[in-house]
Amino acid sequence: MEFWRLRTYSLELAEWITSRLPFVEKIRFVSSGTEAVMSALRVARAATKRNKILKFEGCYHGHADSLLVKAGSGLAGESTSDSAGVSEAQARETLTVPLDNEEAFEKVFATHGKELRQLF
Ligand SMILES: Cc1ncc(COP(=O)(O)O)c(C=O)c1O
Repeated sequence: MEFWRLRTYSLELAEWITSRLPFVEKIRFVSSGTEAVMSALRVARAATKRNKILKFEGCYHGHADSLLVKAGSGLAGESTSDSAGVSEAQARETLTVPLDNEEAFEKVFATHGKELRQLF
């Protein structure tokens, strides 16, 4: 597809979405889920000034460094990466808990709550 045609379709789609969802102020189209999650994390970090994120073990959110992390064997929520090439410093920014484990979830918030963005 020619670039100008793709650009026109993108604008039309953005207008279609914003005309139906008044709470949507801005739209950014991306090429992949990984890119979408990276952008969302960057916006969240900028807005909250908090660096850490929390994800559930075994849940895939793309191949960005901070997303390739699951819980290690240390303290609850402390993390190491499952993928070579992710720095320890990067891995430390992603906390994880097992899915559906309320106790672990509350423990991470008790320990790291001030570093995490709470959306609820
Ligand atoms: C919830 C979720 N987020 C992000 C991704 C990453 O998407 P992509 O493979 O397009 O980078 C996936 C892919 O399965 C996903 O399921």
